[in-house]
Amino acid sequence: MKAIRAYAPASIGNVSLGFDVLGAALAPVDGTRFGDEVEVKEAAHFSLETIGAYAHKLPDDADSNIVTKCYHYFCEKMLNDYKAVSPVAITLHKNLPIGSGLGSSASSIVAAFAALNALFDSPFDDDTLLTMMGELEGQISGSIHYDNVAPCFLGGMTLMTGSPSPVTLSLPLNDQWYYAICYSGISVSTAAARDILPKQVDMATALTFGRQLGVFVHALHSKAFSLAASVMQDVIAEPYRKSLLPGFDEARAFSEREGALAFGISGSGPTVFAVCDSQNQAEKIAAYLDKNYVQNDDGFSHVCQIPKLGTLVSKA
Ligand code: HSE
Repeated sequence: MKAIRAYAPASIGNVSLGFDVLGAALAPVDGTRFGDEVEVKEAAHFSLETIGAYAHKLPDDADSNIVTKCYHYFCEKMLNDYKAVSPVAITLHKNLPIGSGLGSSASSIVAAFAALNALFDSPFDDDTLLTMMGELEGQISGSIHYDNVAPCFLGGMTLMTGSPSPVTLSLPLNDQWYYAICYSGISVSTAAARDILPKQVDMATALTFGRQLGVFVHALHSKAFSLAASVMQDVIAEPYRKSLLPGFDEARAFSEREGALAFGISGSGPTVFAVCDSQNQAEKIAAYLDKNYVQNDDGFSHVCQIPKLGTLVSKA
């Protein structure tokens, strides 16, 4: 019986300066696996089993689970293309906390689609799969954005094009940057964190957003990494969202005092990240955040880099 397993990493949405259009995959430097995993195998009937550290936070009924929705959507697309589908037994290893700003829902969605696509002999190309992943992500967060699903699927740091093909562009990475990331342990719903944002931005904000994104992309391609870091400011969401994040200002102040190149909210929070130019600096900031930004037993910190590879698919 054919069986496939897919691992899809955590990710930082927005990366401060690219609201909804920029994202980066995450890999802890100590080798910890930091993402959801989905196993699919051929079966007589559809079934979903959820296991892992955060499985108890998922809805009880399988129909409400996003992975079940992924399967139904995958089948619908297959049937539209006159391709055969069959029932599957799915196991979701829910390893990422929900409402954490680490691309937890994206990780489940991406792992599910990647595993299903492999099980059925790759009927869809990457752009088609990414579009499907974005649509499912949109069902959860209330708006379609690819800044978690794209880096989670493809790895690296990705910039959305707004086109169906290619859906994303991969940006050059700086191997010398380390990311101290810290999840505070509280849950912030993406939909709620989007609702508190103004529906329009003023001219000065729009100009800053455009300038920063243009400079950032050019600077990465030119390997002008200090310049790139200097424009990693969130002018769209952070001013509003930080009110949802106890201890945010202190965490930013400490990171800046320690010389972090940039500091921001990962996705819609509450996870924060500090960009550091040495592992040592990142370890120190992560230790501080672990002690001072974490609010309860669910919180944690990691020192990460951005992996070149995203989702890993193998035979189960
Ligand atoms: N770009 C999205 C947001 C990411 O900030 O709302 C959510 O994870």
